[in-house]
Amino acid sequence: MNKVRKTRKEKGMSQERLAEMSGVNRGRLSRIERQLSVPPLSIALKISKGLSTPAEELFDESPAFTETTLPQPLRYIDLFCGIGGFRYASKLAFDRLGLEGECVFSSDNDLFAQESYEANFGEKPLGDITKIDAKDVPDFDLLFGGFPCQAFSICGLRKGFEDKTKGTLFFDIARILKEKRPTAFVLENVKNLASHNGGDTFRTILSVLRDELGYCVDYKLLNALDFGLPQKRERVLIVGAKKRFEMDWNFDVREKKTLADVLEKNVDQRFYASPAVVAKRKARHKPEVSPAIWHENKSGNVSSYPYSCALRAGASHNYLLVDGERRLTPREMLRLQGFPDEFKIVVSDFQIRKQAGNAIPVDMVAAVIENFLRSAFLSPRRPSESLPPARPSALF
Ligand SMILES: C[S@@+](CC[C@H](N)C(=O)[O-])C[C@H]1O[C@@H](n2cnc3c(N)ncnc32)[C@H](O)[C@@H]1O
Repeated sequence: MNKVRKTRKEKGMSQERLAEMSGVNRGRLSRIERQLSVPPLSIALKISKGLSTPAEELFDESPAFTETTLPQPLRYIDLFCGIGGFRYASKLAFDRLGLEGECVFSSDNDLFAQESYEANFGEKPLGDITKIDAKDVPDFDLLFGGFPCQAFSICGLRKGFEDKTKGTLFFDIARILKEKRPTAFVLENVKNLASHNGGDTFRTILSVLRDELGYCVDYKLLNALDFGLPQKRERVLIVGAKKRFEMDWNFDVREKKTLADVLEKNVDQRFYASPAVVAKRKARHKPEVSPAIWHENKSGNVSSYPYSCALRAGASHNYLLVDGERRLTPREMLRLQGFPDEFKIVVSDFQIRKQAGNAIPVDMVAAVIENFLRSAFLSPRRPSESLPPARPSALF
């Protein structure tokens, strides 16, 4: 049992009482007790005071007592923010590392995505990034962005990145990095970014980030299936920092969700095909597992898996079917991307399908942000260093 919970129980305290005594809100205490969040030192010390127990007895193994070269709170910007996948992913990662994050700028030019984002995060993203002067972006530490993949022009002299990438949305990332010089960035893109335009697109991106902007950069092709989400979604993740780092691409997968975990129990009839259509489909395809997602490819061949193929923003209605009987509901699509059920759906089925298809797999990107920040900026406490004073009363 987590030591905070154990000590609290031994002292006969409820979580509400500890929240009151420590000044740490109950949701946060609950996440710490369930080991979903590592408290930063300031919070660890408050809990220690609330429990009248020395911090080192509660958090002796805790990465909260690591050194960080990152400012607090960590200010970040959410470019091409869609419905906020990076917000959820970064929150998870920050919580696990005991860091505080603050979004200081977001942008997406899709009005419906802006509507969803505002309903869920209370901030309306600014629109077209190409029209925003980098000088008007507030100062920040981290840049997040899942940008659309576009070919770069191969005409002209191609002297600098302005020449090489102008007219693409990567250009807008590069000009903001150049102007604001943030500490680090995490970018996400489709699998074929690497092979796009014979590899030229990706080579240009890497050379702009490394050679022209001076960032140390690493990247990897990852699959959401390997991060506990029942969706085969392969994406390239690019991480970069001004300082040298060695990225740890081995991940701890904390929670694994199966297709059955993601599927809703009571699904509205409008998602079902007619009995005649279902019978016809079932005559053509015999699945080996259930529940399964049936996937019809462009030539009409059906295959089925105990997970979903990648959600796509512009796919046909029948591209993915649950047991050949019905379409996925909006909530199921969001769950396949790792969005929590608190996410409010405020747009039409059509729009949310597009938004979910465009989003990032939250669990996968959270793991990348966590490992990246840990690899590049957090170092274990040196053994000779002493822990904070043991008497909580003396600490405040
Ligand atoms: C791949 S999606 C990113 C989704 C996001 N990461 C999420 O989790 O929902 C790309 C987003 O870029 C937005 N976009 C495209 N062109 C843009 C522009 N010129 N300015 C701002 N956003 C743009 C699209 O509306 C879309 O939401």
